Amino acid sequence: MESYFERAKLKFENLKNKTDVIVLGIESSCDETSVSVVRNGTELLSNVVSSQIDIHKRFGGVVPEVASRNHVMAIENVFNEAVKEAGIKLSDIDAVAVTYGAGLIGALLVGVNFAKALSFGLDVPLIAVSHIEGHISANYITHKALKPPFICLLVSGGHTALLKVSDYLEHTMLGTTIDDSVGEAFDKVARILGLEYPGGPNVDKFAKLGKSNIEFIKHDILKGTLNFSFSGVKTAVINYVHNLEQKGESVNVPDVAASFQSFVVKELTEKAISACKQTGLKKLVVAGGVSANSYLKERLTELCKENNIELYMPELKLCTDNAAMIASAGYYYIKKGKGLAGLDLTGSATVAL
Ligand code: KG4
Ligand code: ZN
Repeated sequence: MESYFERAKLKFENLKNKTDVIVLGIESSCDETSVSVVRNGTELLSNVVSSQIDIHKRFGGVVPEVASRNHVMAIENVFNEAVKEAGIKLSDIDAVAVTYGAGLIGALLVGVNFAKALSFGLDVPLIAVSHIEGHISANYITHKALKPPFICLLVSGGHTALLKVSDYLEHTMLGTTIDDSVGEAFDKVARILGLEYPGGPNVDKFAKLGKSNIEFIKHDILKGTLNFSFSGVKTAVINYVHNLEQKGESVNVPDVAASFQSFVVKELTEKAISACKQTGLKKLVVAGGVSANSYLKERLTELCKENNIELYMPELKLCTDNAAMIASAGYYYIKKGKGLAGLDLTGSATVAL
């Protein structure tokens, strides 16, 4: 008798040519437990996200062990809700796609193990999806007509990079951060300013109330390259705040937030436009949690218009972690014949860009 994996291999092959493919996606790499059903990579049937933000807020950041435990408690209900909301039968699911990395290992394992049991139970292929490919794929749901090639500005909590995406799941790296990711810098600056976790959205919010009138460091870092560095500006903000505190002076939180944010956004936008110019590609796609930043969106909209570049950003709910982007990526893995996993699949803290 054929084994589960032998049947999965055959089904995976057959899905390549199937016209209507329903993928159930699972995401649990950090502090969101999410399950989603997506048809043909672009049509969202459901996307249920259970956030642990309120749980981690009191610790000022994500506590890995607490995250894992809460994923365990949430995942079954989130799954049931996602299937119900999609209005499908379990037998309609063609494949299960799950984030296997990058992320917190204990958190990842909850999603991976649930996905393994589900694909075995439903007797369908299991697809191991990179969280980064997921963030890029969020754009295919928001912009149905979007197709590679394009330049991707990847701005997440774990990564900051400029990618030349030549086809689905195929890219070369044009530049990357040499130290902190931009999301990390936002979160650290938020913390020093006494803003609650999650830091990025709070810096964004306070920056709207302030003026960009403080020059922390000069802009010409890594000039002429498409690489980024954010640890210098982060340290400069920390020193600036500490200096004021030592002198007993108050910190103007909105102005610091606005000045930091405009520095970071200038770096990101100028290099993203340069990448488009250097490669001759006229499409810019933004991916990752920091794509939710309102000032980044505002500046990219202006600069892309000036430079005749088409700009694509995910709708707000798909900017940060969600399973819809994983289900979408899963579809492209299937069409490309990539990512088929066995029941020995495990989580991975890092993935290659
Ligand atoms: O992509 P993501 O969900 O995490 C990884 O996959 O690594 O991004 C999370 C990051 C956090 O650092 C968070 O502070 C940041 O995205 N973020 C923002 C905003 N919303 C989320 N940063 C700046 N402005 C925002 N509105
Ligand atoms: Zn993410």
